Order: sequence, then structure tokens, then C-alpha cells
Amino acid sequence: MSETIESLLHEARSYPPSPEFVAQANANDPSIYDKAFHDPQGFWESWAKTLHWFQPWNRVCHFEPPVVEWFVGGKLNACYNCVDRHAEGDRANKRAIVFEGEPGDVREITYAELKVEVSKVANALKELGVQKGDRVCIYLPMVPELPITMLACARIGAAHTVVFGGFSADSLAERANDAEAKVIVTADGGWRRGSVVPLKKITDEAFEKHGCETVEKVLVLNRVGEAGGDVNMVEGRDVHWSEIVTRQSEDCPCEVMDSEDLLFILYTSGSTGKPKGITHTTGGYLTGVTATSKLVFDLKEDDLHFCTADCGWITGHSYITYGPLSNGATVLIYEGAPDTPDKDRFWRIIEKHKATILYTAPTAIRTFMKWGAEYPARCDLSSLRLLGSVGEPINPEAWIWYHTNIGAGKCPIVDTWWQTETGAIMITPLPGITATKPGSATHPFPGVHIKVLDDHGNGVEISGPHATNMTRGGYLVIEQPWPSMTRGIYNDPDRYKKTYWSRFPKNYFAGDGVKLDNDGYLWLLGRVDDIMLVAGHNISTMEVESALVDHPAIAEAAVIGKTHDIKGQAIAAFVSLRAGFTGSDALIAEIKGHVGKKIGPIARPDDVFISADLPKTRSGKIMRRLLRDIAEGRALGDTSTLADPTVVASLKDRYETSEG
Ligand code: PRX
Repeated sequence: MSETIESLLHEARSYPPSPEFVAQANANDPSIYDKAFHDPQGFWESWAKTLHWFQPWNRVCHFEPPVVEWFVGGKLNACYNCVDRHAEGDRANKRAIVFEGEPGDVREITYAELKVEVSKVANALKELGVQKGDRVCIYLPMVPELPITMLACARIGAAHTVVFGGFSADSLAERANDAEAKVIVTADGGWRRGSVVPLKKITDEAFEKHGCETVEKVLVLNRVGEAGGDVNMVEGRDVHWSEIVTRQSEDCPCEVMDSEDLLFILYTSGSTGKPKGITHTTGGYLTGVTATSKLVFDLKEDDLHFCTADCGWITGHSYITYGPLSNGATVLIYEGAPDTPDKDRFWRIIEKHKATILYTAPTAIRTFMKWGAEYPARCDLSSLRLLGSVGEPINPEAWIWYHTNIGAGKCPIVDTWWQTETGAIMITPLPGITATKPGSATHPFPGVHIKVLDDHGNGVEISGPHATNMTRGGYLVIEQPWPSMTRGIYNDPDRYKKTYWSRFPKNYFAGDGVKLDNDGYLWLLGRVDDIMLVAGHNISTMEVESALVDHPAIAEAAVIGKTHDIKGQAIAAFVSLRAGFTGSDALIAEIKGHVGKKIGPIARPDDVFISADLPKTRSGKIMRRLLRDIAEGRALGDTSTLADPTVVASLKDRYETSEG
């Protein structure tokens, strides 16, 4: 990486919020930024005060990097804040959760009912031996029992570690073992594309292959029934949900937790090596997700918040379970795939339940683009009033498609940048204040201090010859502590320090590249490992991908730098085509020319390879590491985290044939 990251793409469109939206917005006074900038601790403290505390804190923040504590000495319970205070007040009969299963079954759970359900599960966990300070591993499909079990853990002071239901036995065991979980909560199965994902069988396999010695009990929910076939129950270890939860008392007091007590561990995969157990504690995390839910999504009493993430990811933790429920909102959750039974499923769900907010990922949006605008056009999406994006940079083309075809040109879009480690949204528009630019996550959330640094730790200047089309970029660094930041990697303080706090001492290093444009907008460029060095220029893979998907034939693109004798690295692009297009030499030449025209000749790919699918992780991120292995003719690295490992094998075969 040379001193700065150049950024070549230029996007000039701007979308100010409409006067009607501004008039009703939770945040519509721009002075919020200045106030929070000059007194971040005061800003966060005012949000902490909106929560229910059993005992107030005596110090707002203690920060000696990498050690941080918020609301020191304060006592609270996250479940009390997300459930009881609403159930015992005016929201008792308000819906907390609206659920639609893949087969079409619907359940609605009010706050009063949620309190009963959560309390029973909490009592069942206690009966199974779980105590305050223990860890519980949750391996469930995206059904209401998943957030219910998370909240039940929080209620009794046990930390949960949710493992995404698409993960394998090896991944489950690795996480349960690392967290030293006492109980695994799973189900007979979950529905995905009309088939059963046999979660209990996979759990059994985890025990067979890896022991899982710390796990004493397995609690098994009945979700799919006979469709799942026989479920093997191990005597003395496995317990049916219906046998133990149903008969529990509805009364389970909330444990008094310290602000800094562990709320959960969530594993996130590094580019190599074993997954990192990212820890979050109680008071600061809940403050961060409560504030961001309210201001970024403009949450109102009668909103129906549809976040398409699974609770196996941080997005589901923060913007399904804790953030919206702490605000007393109603969340809509869906169990299955977006193309079952047809490619309009999300839009049918929005129409049927009248969702008002949709929060999804760019990879999903690009898939919808590939399927075509006729699917959303079939449905009445007029209930929507705000759209959100998360997980990777959203290219302007996808942003415009989302705005036009889902938001009818009227819904503000919040492109939210954050990480498992940051716990809550960090860079985002505030929809009643910020004029958005397609592809830019715009500005730090109030109280968040971002810096863009070069290799030497100097602030990147944006004036001078690069000021217009070639604004300079650098590393994204966070300067001040924020309440929802991770407290470290579970059982691995050294790795924590090395990964996040050693590159720029006393500053949090996020690992992403970013540029700041002349108007002070931030443009995320992806992971710094995904920056190419082509003939001395740093070019972000994301910018070339963005230019590629701007071509009408291209649905999705993944770009990598490939070793080149002269240029150092040459650009290789893997693309999938939209419905109705077929690959040809002429099309490839046209695509190369398109990128050259859009960004500049320096960014013109040497190779364009057309493929039906791209290798992605189960959370939808393209695995560029594997594409680099393919392009360099190397043996493939670890493919176990891929959603569909066959994609990469067939890609390798076809790449080699075409090269040969
Ligand atoms: O590279 C950034 C990208 O996703 C990374 C964090 O991934 P994870 O911990 O799995 O959390 C995803 C959900 C918060 C970041 O380092 N990323 C996330 N959101 C954006 C993004 N990149 C650009 N724009 C975003 N809005």
C-alpha cells in the first residue's frame, strides 16, 4: 500500500430529504452534530438516560486504549429494557414481533406475550443448569424463538453466542468450544428454499467430530416436525423444548447486571485463521443500538421494521433484537429465502404486513436487480417510508435501482457503515438532515469521530490537485471511544490489540479504506486487503466493481488484483450477467471499454471472466481471496465458509480451460 489510496470514481448526484420527511423526522436539527462533536460523552450519556437503570453510573467513560468502559458502576438488564418496561407499560398489547415462516405461517407476539415467552425460556435455561456468567450457544433458524432465547439469556445474565443456521458442524463446534458454552439451543430444522436444514443432525455431528466437552445440555425446538424426519435425542443430554419450556413459570426476575457485564459473543471470520469471538457488554452496547435505531431508522411508534438479516449476524443482534425492541418498536422477521416460492417473496411480505422500513444488503439488492424490476412492480410497496443498506459498499447503480424500484423515488436511503466490532452504526446519513449521494455512507453518526489517515498516520488532505475527480483516500480510523465498541476478542487480548490498536496507537483501526470528498462525504472503499496496486496506483476493487455493474449486461462483479510482470498487479474481473444477456468476445471488449471510460484507462481490466455465480460467504460477501487463488493458479485456500463450495470449484475448472 502506498501512502494514500487513490479514488477515481466520481458521483455527483445528491438527494436532499423532502420537506415532509424533515418535518416529521426524529432528528431534523443539524446542530445535533456540533453539539455531539464537542461533547461526545454528554451526547451518549443523554441516550443512556433513556434506558432503565437499577442503579446509575458514577463515571460516563473510562478509556485507556484498548481498554474501555462506559457508564461505570451502572446496573441494568438488557432484557428488562427490551421487554419488561414495554410489557408493563402502554405497549403491553403492542406487537413486538411479526413473524412469517417460509411455508407461509404467521405469528404475532405482543410485548406482554414476549415477556411470558422469554421468562419461560429463561427459567428452562436455569433448570438446565445455566447460571449468571455462563455462555449459551444458539443455533436456531430465523424464528421468534431465536430473539426470544437471546433475550432469555440476557434476562438471567448468561452471554449468548448465536451461530448462523447456515453454518456447518465444524463451524458450530469451533464457536461452542471457544465460548465454552454450557448449553446449545437448536431446532429439529429450519426451512430454506422449500427444504429442511437439519440443525439437530448438524449439532449431533458437531459433538461426534469435536467433542464439545463444555456443553452439558442441548435444548431442541420443534420447528419442522415430521418433514425433518426422525430426530435423535441423546439420553441425559438432549431435551425437547415442548417438554421443558412449556411447563415453566411465567415469572422470572431479571438479573441485575453491571454495565460492563458480558452480553454476548459473536464470532466473525478474519481473512485467515480462526474466527474472532467479538465481545459486547451491556450498558454501552444497549445505549449505542438504542440511539442509532431511533435516529438512523427514524423509528416511530407505528413503524414496522423489516430487517432481512439473520440474528446470526451482528445486524440481527443490533437491528432486530436489541435496538428496535429497546425502543418499543415492532420488528418483522422472515425465516426463509427471498426466492421461495417466487422471486417476489420479500415484496409480498412487505405488501402483506405493510412494512414501513426495509433494511437489507447490497448483495441482495444486486440479486433483485438481476431478477428484474417486474418482481417488486407486482406488489404494493407504498407502505415503505425508509430504506437502509448495510454490509458492503453499495454501488451507485444499485442505490439508484433500490431508490427507484423499491422506494418509488420517495424513500430516503440510509447507507450504514459499521462492523461486528463497532456494535452499532457508525457512518450513516440521518434521514431528516443529510442530503445523500448514491454510494456514500455520508457522515459519522453524532458522537463518532472518524479520521482518514495515510500510512504515516497523517490526516489525508483533500485540497490541492486531487480535489475534484481524484479525491484522496486513506485508512478509516476511529478516534474517540463510543459506547457500543467491542470490549475485545474472547480469550485473546493479544490478537485484539494487534488487529485493531497497533497500527495507529490509541486509535481504533477498522481495516477499511475510505475517501473523503470535497463536501466532507465519506466513501467506503472496502477492506484494505482488497486494494490493488496497478502500475503504482492504488485502486479499490469496489470502485472497479461499481463501474462494471453500471454496464447494463452485468448483474454482479468481483474484481481482484493479479500478479503482473510490468504493472505489479493487473485487474481481473469475474462477472455474472443479467437475465437476457449472453457472454461473447464482443461483450467482454465492450465491458473493458466501459470501465476504461467510467474510471480511466488505468482501471481497465486485463481479463473479464463471465460466470453464472460468484463465490460468496454465507453472509453474502464475495470471497476475493478465492478468486485470487484461481487467477494466480494456486491451490484453493479454505472454502469452508462458502455458502456454496461447488461454485468455486466449477469456476476454477472453467477459468483454467479458458486460460489454456
Ligand atoms: O468492510 C466493511 C463492510 O463490512 C465490514 C464489517 O463486516 P461485519 O463485521 O460482518 O458487519 C457487517 C454488518 C455491519 C466493514 O469493515 N461494510 C459494512 N457496511 C458497509 C460496509 N462497507 C461499505 N459500506 C457499508 N455500508
